[in-house]
Amino acid sequence: MHENRVPAADTIDSLPRGGPTASWLDRQFETERLEFLDRDDVDDRVKRSVVRSLDHISAKLRYNEKFAQLALQQVADIPHPKILELGAGHGGLSRALLEQHPDAELTVTDINAASVDDMVASDLGSQPRAVVRVEDATSINAPDQAYDLVVFAQSFHHLPPRAASATIAEATRVAKKFLVIDLLRRPSIVQPLRLPLFFALIALAQGYPTAHDWLISELRAYSPSALSALASQAGADITTQFSKDRVHQVAVMSRVAHAIQSGK
Ligand SMILES: C[S@@+](CC[C@H](N)C(=O)[O-])C[C@H]1O[C@@H](n2cnc3c(N)ncnc32)[C@H](O)[C@@H]1O
Repeated sequence: MHENRVPAADTIDSLPRGGPTASWLDRQFETERLEFLDRDDVDDRVKRSVVRSLDHISAKLRYNEKFAQLALQQVADIPHPKILELGAGHGGLSRALLEQHPDAELTVTDINAASVDDMVASDLGSQPRAVVRVEDATSINAPDQAYDLVVFAQSFHHLPPRAASATIAEATRVAKKFLVIDLLRRPSIVQPLRLPLFFALIALAQGYPTAHDWLISELRAYSPSALSALASQAGADITTQFSKDRVHQVAVMSRVAHAIQSGK
């Protein structure tokens, strides 16, 4: 269980990534530094190289299939599920969803126009069950409950707390369920043991934007208690269920009112 503390509106910006009661040690393993993917002063070629690397990593480690299974579990009882993917980057998860579910309809989106252009130019652009477009997770251009599911994979940590909370409010407005799959925030007690890994990554990161962004991602990942606090800030009626494996944590958020309307 995670304490459901609602941060005061004026303190949301300073919510620690480890949650409202994060320890001193946990706060040392957090950073304000932005990933290359999030910087306006970084050339699109660099961002594209990071997204391409992510695509290779996701394909090699079969993350797309794993995430697609997690998403399809959430819509198992819906014959023609309408799914919105936020922060799709390379589109690998949406491709896996289209493959694994012959009747799923996908809206494949990202805030980065270059990534969207690349996805439109790929097989996704001509897939009859997919629409590809730019979308900002914090302000989704869709009516209430337009989708059965919104999924945001390996991206939630990109958002600072206020934007993260706005995204929860938006995603649970436009869909019955919001599935967040993100990197685990490691317990602070094990972080010092991982220092050699961090130093190696820092050295690598000078020349390798993907190593840089991976390191920042680990330090910006939210804990379940932070996710609970962000959800409480987004809406008093939002419930969250958590699960995890060795690499990823999974949070499924939904509004009680939507569940009552759909009789579940
Ligand atoms: C680490 S990549 C993840 C890509 C892909 N989902 C994956 O799992 O490999 C994070 C993505 O989130 C996108 N992103 C960052 N902020 C966003 C926002 N406010 N709205 C939508 N997408 C956002 C970035 O452009 C980037 O494509």
